[in-house]
Amino acid sequence: MKIAVVSDKPETLEEVRRLFHGHEHGAELSFHRRSGETIPQGESEVDFPDLLVLDQTGSEHPDMGAVEEMTRRHPNLTVLLLCAVRSEEVLVSAMRAGIREVLAWPGAKREFLAAVERAKKWATAPGMRRPRGKLLGFVSGKGGSGATFLAANLGYALAAECHKKVLLIDLDLQYGDASFFLTDQENLMSVADVARQIERLDATFLASAAVDLLPNYALLAAPEDAERAVGVTAGQIERLLDVAVQNYDYVIVDIERSIDVLAMKVLDRAEQIYLVIEAMLPFIRDARRLLHAFRQLGYRGEKIRLVVNRLEKDVGVPIKQIEKALSTPVHWTLPNDFANASASVNQGVPIAKLAPGSPVSRALRAYAKELAGTGEPRRGWFGQLFRTA
Ligand SMILES: Nc1ncnc2c1ncn2[C@@H]1O[C@H](COP(=O)(O)OP(=O)(O)OP(=O)(O)O)[C@@H](O)[C@H]1O
Ligand SMILES: [Mg+2]
Repeated sequence: MKIAVVSDKPETLEEVRRLFHGHEHGAELSFHRRSGETIPQGESEVDFPDLLVLDQTGSEHPDMGAVEEMTRRHPNLTVLLLCAVRSEEVLVSAMRAGIREVLAWPGAKREFLAAVERAKKWATAPGMRRPRGKLLGFVSGKGGSGATFLAANLGYALAAECHKKVLLIDLDLQYGDASFFLTDQENLMSVADVARQIERLDATFLASAAVDLLPNYALLAAPEDAERAVGVTAGQIERLLDVAVQNYDYVIVDIERSIDVLAMKVLDRAEQIYLVIEAMLPFIRDARRLLHAFRQLGYRGEKIRLVVNRLEKDVGVPIKQIEKALSTPVHWTLPNDFANASASVNQGVPIAKLAPGSPVSRALRAYAKELAGTGEPRRGWFGQLFRTA
């Protein structure tokens, strides 16, 4: 759990730091001095806290506007307010602003740790937290359709272009190769290692197990050695997905084509399943089998998004015929771009970084923007809090 303490008084920050000493219980603490309208460097969504301890003792009538805006935007944020006078007026406006706990300060200092524990319980109670993110599953209709390539590069576009916090999970535990598409960094930990230590899993552990491709794009790789994947259970994957969707805007999962119990956990939870094919008969035949299996498992309709990759003008089966053969609309098409796609894969650099102007990069960017909205950069949480200061 991340706890941020914000105050304009250095002595209050120091006092709170002392109170916490020895009572952190594994929480990650950060202290922020608020001074006028200055926003500290490096503040970003990525550092968004779970619990905010906000000192407003400096004003008799604390301004709750910015806090209200923040709790509205971030329903999982729990706020503990320190105020000079715990009047009825303050309590009512705090309640309206979505603040969980109000403490008179320094009068009720002795109750501080108890209030923090109450707030932490609230923040972690099952069912209290709304998932932050969307889970998108990518599956290839036939080997080599480009499912991994698109999953990895859509993730990059959502992070780089749309300022989303994205996690790519390579759940192709036998042959996973997503990391080679994006980086030459070594993965110290894989999905299998995380699964094995699932009882330790929280946002911090997940972030440390994943490789950072950008400050807001991380990859949890498949194990390098397929043997390490043996024994990974559906329960472990379920827990991993739980923590992932609580902490990332988009969780993109590359799954194997042979739908097993692990893949089914992803398919169950996924908002969208992207089925990637090429406009050729063997791909269409295999996709038909896969779609049939999906229907049997109850995944149908809007949840399935059929993607035709490597489309070339006047080559292959026309889209209309594909749609008819599969009784499924084609949701997204990407052009064939052999030179840039293979350069990207061979160098391990996202295509949009290597060849931003290439047709595939443009298609990925446009689609990411459509998914994510306008793509306006979001201000850090500190900035949000200071807008009305
Ligand atoms: N739009 C495209 N144009 C040209 N080449 C592409 C395009 N998309 C993907 N490729 C190429 O296709 C190759 C295979 O892609 P990828 O490994 O993502 O397929 P896959 O569906 O994940 O296959 P598998 O089932 O083996 O995991 C990649 O090496 C990539 O260079
Ligand atoms: Mg693949």
